Amino acid sequence: METLTRVEPARSKYALYQQICEQLGELLGDEKNFIANAANTAALLFQMLPDVNWAGFYLAEKRELVLGPFQGKPACVRIPFGKGVCGKAAAQRKSIVVPDVSKFPGHIACDRASRSEIVIPLLNWGNVLGVLDLDSAQLDRFDDEDREGLESVVAVFLACETTNDLPDLSEEAAE
Ligand code: SME
Repeated sequence: METLTRVEPARSKYALYQQICEQLGELLGDEKNFIANAANTAALLFQMLPDVNWAGFYLAEKRELVLGPFQGKPACVRIPFGKGVCGKAAAQRKSIVVPDVSKFPGHIACDRASRSEIVIPLLNWGNVLGVLDLDSAQLDRFDDEDREGLESVVAVFLACETTNDLPDLSEEAAE
């Protein structure tokens, strides 16, 4: 009788994001500092996700996004709401997956190596606190599973801050 070779199932993206969410919860623990937690979230994503050349946050300030904690090459500092992929995701309050950045009108190129991108807004009771942005040098690197996975990561990140500790970055608060 032929011996069957056990083939390990390909590790699904969902399983990977589940692992990242669990690790993130442990990593952030009881810490409430927003910037420290954002820095560790960016570092964990950059370390755990394959084929990612930039992972980090832009934080809302009035009607602009300002560069926050990240891993990767230095990036542009200010992005107005509505501009680029990040500004559009913030203005529309929804995630955007860009399979080919050269085909996205208004894409802001911080690193010429980046060819695909995903942006997830950080929402707190209607306020846009900022966005999580990931870039890849591979075309079509991110799909709907990444979007769902990263939205879960953002949920874990935001759940680790109490609502009161989240920065009030709304336009009204900044005036
Ligand atoms: N490509 C983004 C700008 C930020 S960098 O990718 C780090 C955009 O179009 O909004």
